[in-house]
Amino acid sequence: MSNPAPEKVLKFPENFLWGTATSPTQVEGHIQNEWTDFVAQDGGTCHVTCDHYHRYPEDVDWMRKLNQNGYRMGIEWSRLQDCAYGPLNQTELARYIDLIDRLRAAGITPMIVLHHFSNPPWINELGGWTNAATIPVFVDYVRKLVAALKDRVYLWNTFNEPDTYACVAYLLGGFPPQNKWRLGRFRKVIGHMARAHVKVSRIIRREGVGATGHKPEVGIAKNWTYFEAYKKYSLWDRTTAAACHYTFNQFVLDAFLGGWRRKASTYVGLNYYGRVRFHHFRAMIPASGAPIKQLADFGFVCDDMVERYPAGFGKVLRQFQQRFRLPMYITEHGAASSNEEFRIRDLTSHLEVLHGAMAEGVDVRGFFYWSLMDNFEWQFGYTKKFGLLAVDFADKKLPRTPKPLAEVYARIARERALRG
Ligand code: FCB
Repeated sequence: MSNPAPEKVLKFPENFLWGTATSPTQVEGHIQNEWTDFVAQDGGTCHVTCDHYHRYPEDVDWMRKLNQNGYRMGIEWSRLQDCAYGPLNQTELARYIDLIDRLRAAGITPMIVLHHFSNPPWINELGGWTNAATIPVFVDYVRKLVAALKDRVYLWNTFNEPDTYACVAYLLGGFPPQNKWRLGRFRKVIGHMARAHVKVSRIIRREGVGATGHKPEVGIAKNWTYFEAYKKYSLWDRTTAAACHYTFNQFVLDAFLGGWRRKASTYVGLNYYGRVRFHHFRAMIPASGAPIKQLADFGFVCDDMVERYPAGFGKVLRQFQQRFRLPMYITEHGAASSNEEFRIRDLTSHLEVLHGAMAEGVDVRGFFYWSLMDNFEWQFGYTKKFGLLAVDFADKKLPRTPKPLAEVYARIARERALRG
């Protein structure tokens, strides 16, 4: 009888951060920003969502049970300031501090996101990030926040996916203010956010040294999507893909990290979900309405949002390492599906690729799964299930229940290894 094949164990570094990611608008509820009156495609709103605003002690407990040692969370600007250059709201600040203290007591390092697709109403009234006057106001806010949190927080993430935000809000009309094809606005938003990123990064590095025992770390979270032609020889397919790649990848990376600007960041955050292939102007992905079944007939493996492309994860990691020569965090990766086997395969195949890249010397310090729990997925509402925990939105108590993927991820985090 032949021996069974030895179990493959892929070890990750001991101090690697294993976490999940959320954002205020998507999980907290009771928020006053441009999403408050927004009604998603399924009729859902963010009014209560997971009620993380009140239930965060329970959620921190879940993270502890899932052996997490990292949590990427946002702080909602609209809660903390009610006018430009105003003082921070001490009650709201105390609530975030309590959350952070509970995380730290559970051995969970917080990574704080400063901007995740939302602004205070008084910023939106003046045109949001299309207006350059937003830059100094944001800088003032961040300076105050950093002073308030520096003894507890050393990991800062300035802007989450500025590319997605500017694109969906000003080109595709999916996010407030639901503008369509305002390319000038798109470019302005990116330009202003990039300038703000450089300014607040300097503040964080200079003024953010506190009692955590760590040097402050700061970076953006760039969504990297592969835009490719469905038919290699179709001029239309190729032109659309090339235009998207230029606008959302190249232009945005140059704005935030090109030339001298690279030196402002201490790391690069990468959100990686996969690929979008174009047939003429049509994005062949479930998020654009293409039926998953039809996509499967073309040989595309998709979750409920985009095409999966684990090999691309390795490519972009190597490319970022070569180009930026900075450490990286995987600030988001996740899959939306009600098929847990699919999600388990998706996670393990991406972690295998990640491990391979790290073994070749790519410097990755942590991985944050999107998301801790099912939540308000922007224009899609509650139909996209990204959570490790299921949330029963029909029940007023919003009970959380771990899905099979949660157990898999908890074991990986506990063993700091992937077994296969
Ligand atoms: C990312 C966003 C995050 C969530 C996931 C699914 O683009 O940063 O808020 O919507 O996608």
